Amino acid sequence: MVVGLATLGVFATMGYFVWRYRYRPGVNETGRDVPGSTRLEVGWTIATTVVFGGIFALGAAGFAERQHVPAGRDVEDVLVVGKQWMWKFQHGGGRREIAVLHVPVGRVVRLSLTSEDVIHSFYVPAFRVKQDALPGRTTTLWFEATTPGTYPFACAEYCGGEHSRMVGQIVAMPAEAYDAWLEHREPGEMPLAAAGREVFARHDCATCHDTHANKPAPPLEGLVGRRRVFEDGAALVADEAYLRESVLEPSARVVAGYAVAGRSPMPSYAGVLTNEELFELLYYLRTLKDATGVSR
Ligand code: CUA
Repeated sequence: MVVGLATLGVFATMGYFVWRYRYRPGVNETGRDVPGSTRLEVGWTIATTVVFGGIFALGAAGFAERQHVPAGRDVEDVLVVGKQWMWKFQHGGGRREIAVLHVPVGRVVRLSLTSEDVIHSFYVPAFRVKQDALPGRTTTLWFEATTPGTYPFACAEYCGGEHSRMVGQIVAMPAEAYDAWLEHREPGEMPLAAAGREVFARHDCATCHDTHANKPAPPLEGLVGRRRVFEDGAALVADEAYLRESVLEPSARVVAGYAVAGRSPMPSYAGVLTNEELFELLYYLRTLKDATGVSR
């Protein structure tokens, strides 16, 4: 609306000037020197800077808010996989669904998005959110549904012949109803942490990663949120992105003291784990608590 008003103002002024200073024989056949007005120029520069700078600040604040899941809130995790031409969902509680996404009202829902083929974009107009799903990467998006109901979502990135049919609905339901719904798992569906533990066991990760001393790899309990120091002296606080990198590209950052010949002795699991398995594994790793509280 502000932009509309500004445009209207510019065009109205332009029209007025065209009429006001039109060519009139005998009246204004020669040009006249019009001196500038510093006060006027400074005035409109400041006024427009304040108005549009303010709009930018509002937009930037909203953008920043979208980038960070609110701290201290219960978060419902859902894996979203885009694929020509459907959306697949896997809930933290283990349930899977296609083209329909059930979410609880009044809770923060964090989507981890990825793609099995090309770039898709998960778009929920009613929630004012949109996020690309990229092959080989995971992006996140969060929202909180406030009113029960069904809300359409769509793919907002042209991804091939049936892009326009890559649509579905979010069903926002009261939190208790959602919890009950989540309990109705199909055979083969299990909570993500349990599924992740199976991935961990299937790939014999514990052979190297163990709480007990003298193992060739860092222990994983209580890892998330801990400060890690690497071979090259750099440091960071372990988050999900770091865990993901460590699984897919172990030598990218090697924890100090664990390098062998300058590399990580761990093989890469890129291409070994499916998107779902990686999500389950990372989910499981996040649940590993350290009983001792000792910093590593
Ligand atoms: Cu997927 Cu367009």
